[in-house]
Amino acid sequence: MKLVFLGPPGAGKGTQAAGVCMRFKIPHISTGDMLRSAVAKGTPTGLKAKTYMDAGALVPDEVLVKMVGERISEPDCVNGFLLDGFPRTVAQAEALEEIGKPDAVVDVEVPDEKLLTRLTGRRVCESCKGTFHISTLTGTVCPDCGGELIQREDDKPATTQNRLNVYHAQTAPLIDFYKEKGTLRVVDGDKTPSEVFEAIRVALGG
Ligand code: AP5
Repeated sequence: MKLVFLGPPGAGKGTQAAGVCMRFKIPHISTGDMLRSAVAKGTPTGLKAKTYMDAGALVPDEVLVKMVGERISEPDCVNGFLLDGFPRTVAQAEALEEIGKPDAVVDVEVPDEKLLTRLTGRRVCESCKGTFHISTLTGTVCPDCGGELIQREDDKPATTQNRLNVYHAQTAPLIDFYKEKGTLRVVDGDKTPSEVFEAIRVALGG
C-alpha cells in the first residue's frame, strides 16, 4: 500500500503515522524528519533547507523530489510506504505520479485556530523523538524515556501562522488534485487521537 498523509501542519499526521504503519506494515517516511536530520548533521541538503524551514516556507521542489525518490527506492519500500509531508505542491504531486503513484491519500482536517494551539504547545523528545502536547504533560521530561523535551524552532508563534498560510496557498490545492484522481479520503482530525486513528483505519478499509 502506497499511502500519503495530507493535511495542515499540526493536524496529527506524525501522531497517527506509527499506528498506521504498524497496521499496514509499511515504513513511515516523514520529509520533515528527514530534513531536520539533514540540518542536524550539517549536510549540503540540510544547509540549503534550514533557512526555508526556520521561516516556515517550503524547501524547493527539486530537493524534495530527489530526496523522496531515493528513499522510496530503498528495499524496505518494496511493499509500499507512508509519505508524511510529501507531496506539498502540485509539482511534487506530479513527480510522485511518476516515481510512486499513491493508492490512497488521507487528508486529515483540523480548523486553523486549533492548529495554532497544537503547534505552539507541541514538545518533541530529543532522545526518542516522541511528540507530546503541553496540555497532557505533567513533568518537564519525556514521559516515555526521560529525555529532554524541546520546542521545534518552527513551532514558535512567529512562524506558525506563516506555515498555515503556506499550507493554504501551496498544499491545499492537492485536495482537488487527488479528488480528481479518486484516491482522496477525508478524515476529521478534530477528535481524540484514538478516534482519528479509527477513522483512518475505516477510510483505508484496514
Ligand atoms: P513537517 O515536519 O512535515 O511539518 P508539518 O507538516 O508542518 O507537520 P507537523 O509535524 O507540524 O504536524 P503533524 O501533522 O505531524 O502533527 P503532530 O502529529 O506532530 O515539515 C516541517 C518543514 O519542513 C516545513 O515547514 C518545510 O519547511 C519542510 N518540508 C517538509 N516537507 C516538505 C515538502 N514536501 N516540501 C517542501 N518543504 C518541506 O501533532 C501536532 C501537535 O498536536 C502535537 O503536540 C500532538 O501531540 C498534538 N495532537 C496530535 N493529534 C491530536 C489530536 N487528535 N487531538 C489533540 N492534539 C493532538
